[in-house]
Amino acid sequence: MASRERRRHAPRIAVIGATGAAGSTVLRILEERHFPIGELRALASVRSAGMTVGFGGAPVTVAEVTDDSLRGIDIAFFAAGSAAARRFAPVVAAGGGVAVDKSSAYRADPEVPLVVPEVNAETLRSHQGIVANPNCVTIPLTVCVAPLHRAFGLRRLTVATYQSASGGGRDLVAELRAQEQADADGRQPLASVYPHVLHANVVPGGWAMQGDDTDEELKVIAETRRVLQLADLPVSITTVRVPVAVGHSAAVWGEFDVDVDAAAARRVLGDSPGVRVVDDPAAQRYPTPRDAAGSDDVLVGRIRADRGRPGAVAFFLAADNLRKGAATNAVQVGELLLALRGATAAA
Ligand SMILES: NC(=O)c1ccc[n+]([C@@H]2O[C@H](COP(=O)([O-])OP(=O)(O)OC[C@H]3O[C@@H](n4cnc5c(N)ncnc54)[C@H](OP(=O)(O)O)[C@@H]3O)[C@@H](O)[C@H]2O)c1
Repeated sequence: MASRERRRHAPRIAVIGATGAAGSTVLRILEERHFPIGELRALASVRSAGMTVGFGGAPVTVAEVTDDSLRGIDIAFFAAGSAAARRFAPVVAAGGGVAVDKSSAYRADPEVPLVVPEVNAETLRSHQGIVANPNCVTIPLTVCVAPLHRAFGLRRLTVATYQSASGGGRDLVAELRAQEQADADGRQPLASVYPHVLHANVVPGGWAMQGDDTDEELKVIAETRRVLQLADLPVSITTVRVPVAVGHSAAVWGEFDVDVDAAAARRVLGDSPGVRVVDDPAAQRYPTPRDAAGSDDVLVGRIRADRGRPGAVAFFLAADNLRKGAATNAVQVGELLLALRGATAAA
């Protein structure tokens, strides 16, 4: 078996979870970014084997993910949940390829880099065939907070999220649509995917609980600390689901080693890769999930002094959770892996 570093052909790519919200977006982003592809395999569970998904204007037949269907794969983008990632990412790694996983299966594994390319691309050099992506809140949060940390030294972070239905997968989006229709028709909206009707509502839960915290809150805390390499960073967070189809938002408050004014924070964010400052509140210009949907940028605005904590800064962000929060980040990791492979081959 050729080693991971030696392969020179156009990469054989697999997308696992190709029928899902995040996986179908991976296919779209691979196409948009003209990712070099020698062969593409669209994989999912046995439930959708035989279905087709679109790629490059042509249908691609979905196959069940198995040891066999992963044979010879160079880069596998996993967007199929933790169980599939635990079972099959090691198969890709053992075959000399790299699994780029969107689930939480490996995010806390010290052997597996947890990568946001704008923040810690250098950690990719130490991968052993599996690379983890943070969750869809941690990615946009760290894209914004890492440059502020580099400039001012982050001491404490407070976050309230406004997370869209698509973050809960395709079934929650379908349920939200059905609830909207039921309301419009004067019928009782039903909730089966989520514990509450999401339409015309705001739900501070729906994730599994770990004691008093949602596991989403604990993930964001742990992953943010890991990506920023601030193991003891105090993070206060409440995660909330809102009736938006696509686009996660967050209100963020940061305290730093030095007093930071809004102008200095705006300057740093304005120079940061992956960030687009949208900040003219007097003209009603600030980030909204509707504006973020379809974009790979993290939109940041309402940048201002925190009136409750002198020297601290408040801002609001919005990002497309399916793109930068999931698929774009994974494909950027894939691009870095190819660049590393090229560099190794040239050396
Ligand atoms: N949605 C987001 O914004 C987002 C953001 C970051 C990370 N993620 C992560 O991405 C993953 C997928 O989430 P999603 O929102 O895209 O969910 P989804 O819309 O429900 O799609 C799930 C996908 O995974 C496949 N799948 C499920 N179990 C499988 C198994 N055992 N073997 C093979 N394929 C399996 C499904 O295939 P079938 O069609 O065969 O059922 C489907 O393609 C999760 O790990 C999630 O945490 C999602």
